[in-house]
Amino acid sequence: MSQYTFPNDFWWGSAASATQTEGAAAIDGKGKNIWDYWYEQEPNRFFQQVGPSEASRFYEAYQTDIALMKKLGHNSFRMSISWSRLMPNGTGEVNPAAVNFYHHVLDELINAGIEPFVNLYHFDMPLAMQQIGGWENRDVVEAFQAYARTCFQLFGPKVSKWFTQNEPIVPVEAGYLYDMHYPNVVDFKRAVQVGYHSALASAKAIQAYKEERQQGKIGIILNVTPSYPRSSHAADVKAAKIADLFFNRSFLDVSVKGEFPKELIQLLEKHDLLPVTQTEDRVIFSNYTIDLLGVNYYQPRRVKAKEYAAHPDAPIMPEHFFDAYDMPGRKMNPYRGWEIYEKGIYDILINLKDNYNNVECFISENGMGVENEQRFKDDSGIIQDDYRIDFYKDHLKWVHKALEEGANVKGYHVWTFMDNWSWMNAYKNRYGLVSVDLNNNAKRSIKKSGYWFKDVATNNGFFT
Ligand code: BG6
Repeated sequence: MSQYTFPNDFWWGSAASATQTEGAAAIDGKGKNIWDYWYEQEPNRFFQQVGPSEASRFYEAYQTDIALMKKLGHNSFRMSISWSRLMPNGTGEVNPAAVNFYHHVLDELINAGIEPFVNLYHFDMPLAMQQIGGWENRDVVEAFQAYARTCFQLFGPKVSKWFTQNEPIVPVEAGYLYDMHYPNVVDFKRAVQVGYHSALASAKAIQAYKEERQQGKIGIILNVTPSYPRSSHAADVKAAKIADLFFNRSFLDVSVKGEFPKELIQLLEKHDLLPVTQTEDRVIFSNYTIDLLGVNYYQPRRVKAKEYAAHPDAPIMPEHFFDAYDMPGRKMNPYRGWEIYEKGIYDILINLKDNYNNVECFISENGMGVENEQRFKDDSGIIQDDYRIDFYKDHLKWVHKALEEGANVKGYHVWTFMDNWSWMNAYKNRYGLVSVDLNNNAKRSIKKSGYWFKDVATNNGFFT
């Protein structure tokens, strides 16, 4: 029998985001964000045509949900503030109903002994900001800084862990390269500009945090996706390094070390992809790095050298530099189609230890999506998600090993607390410790993994 015990002050909890859980998308003064808008325009792009207004009703049910979190052993919970709920136009007027709501949520968490980890941006650009260009427009960077400052002023005394953004590379990829998020642009150069401004917005939010003399820590949540080459041949290794540069190091280096990787700048320059910058930005980046890093990990990226060069006239895309590699025999999640590679979580933590000053970090999302999960319900109505328990256990073993080897990892948050609405996939893939029955008034029921999580969090570990 092996024992996996974690430090006494380890953060156990889960993560969620405003758009995916709150619902109440068009009431109490909330402004539209790009999801509300895009759904109105193209409902067919969403699984079963379900839009964000159908999210899990946290807006009404937060007290019940927080009581459940407590029951499931949470000592911390990551939520996000909806920019368009707090500031319906993205700038200017603050919505008093939103201020009230977030104060109540924070109070409820604190009274339950659950530390709120608060994120400012989880893919939910206010429509008014997108209409002036979203992250492509530098004015939106300034607006984000003002929004962040407002949040610190309003909620700072109740929150000591802040995050500027969740997975900022995703809006770059999904919104400006691969047609999966609004505004559905496919243009590498514009994508680079979006990424640059989003990184700048993060640094400027950190600047506001420090200027407001806040007492807690501020960081960013990054989806670090380790890039593994098909082989040790130079061409494969080079391809994996380029994927790593684009999708990991772009945000990781600037967030932790205060500058973009030189190799990335050279590569972008060579292909005429450099963004428009201002000279003072460099100082902002180097002065305002993060105190704390959230690592979201789901699956690795497998990469091989390009077998056929792209057509010379084809518009340039990241895939001009590498090909995806379907590694034979890799373990797949049969219910979602993503690879499961538990050691990846360890490789990330050791990379942070060795190459990123052992920055203070935690696992901010890790989870297993399952389609049609109701089929695993037993006679008593509990979803028997043993596959998810195994998934968590197998990842936690590697987190534990990294901890033993000196990684500065402070906690583990699963994605997610309850089944929620997810971007284009809506309710297709369920991830919760708690299920949500959409046909029965969004009724919550704890899954087997929820009970398991409670034991692990309460005992600070587990045996196998
Ligand atoms: C993460 C995001 O990358 O993936 C979440 O931070 C998202 O917001 C999760 O819900 C799962 O994605 P999907 O598409 O499987 O529901």
